[in-house]
Amino acid sequence: MVTDLLRTVHPPLLVPSLLAGDHANLGASAAKVEQLGLKWLHLDIMDGHFVPNFTFGPEVLAALRRSGSKLFFDTHLMLDEPDRYIEAFAKAGADNISIHIEPNYDHAGTLARIRALRCQCGIVLNPGTPARAIEALLPQVDLVLVMTVQPGFGGQSFRRDMLPKISQLATWRKVRNLNFRLEVDGGVDPATAAECRAAGADTFVAGTSFFKAPDQAAFAAAFAKL
Ligand code: DX5
Ligand code: ZN
Repeated sequence: MVTDLLRTVHPPLLVPSLLAGDHANLGASAAKVEQLGLKWLHLDIMDGHFVPNFTFGPEVLAALRRSGSKLFFDTHLMLDEPDRYIEAFAKAGADNISIHIEPNYDHAGTLARIRALRCQCGIVLNPGTPARAIEALLPQVDLVLVMTVQPGFGGQSFRRDMLPKISQLATWRKVRNLNFRLEVDGGVDPATAAECRAAGADTFVAGTSFFKAPDQAAFAAAFAKL
């Protein structure tokens, strides 16, 4: 049960991560999400620098759009220089673009540019980054993403030590009358999502647990009840 202080205006939202989909048939993996009646799809963009892995670029988003996907593209840029690529992802069909706080660039200016491109904007924190690092940006964002694993790879274990950070952000949201979504990403399944929900999170990225679930409809129903 979510306490009053942490209660959010946002109902729980399950956001499957395409990273755990079939990379030889990403369109089919995205279509599966849409067929279940889910609304958001998480797209992990990695550059081999900010994180030691690669995924896909804007052309994959554009191709998913061409194939008819109406999902809300929740785009997580794990890039050293995200400010160089936001326009390409916006043009390709991103609905939200989230950027990390850790690299050195103009965070506030880049968030404003994302908005000017008619996308929602989010700010992301690695596990080692404290909530206060983004405190000044909170009034400017639609979404805060708390990484519950070190980014770069799917299938890692949920970091329970991130729960106090989630509670801190939920508390600031409440007492400052802010309205951002509070998203968690990494090792999220129905059990760990329930812990995040109790701490104040409302938006749940699930890669491995979603795509490996034997019954994805039942899996989605469990999140709707959080
Ligand atoms: C990790 C990515 C995640 C990833 C989560 O770097 O940001 O979005 O897809 O995968 P799971 O749910 O398998 O931990
Ligand atoms: Zn992600």
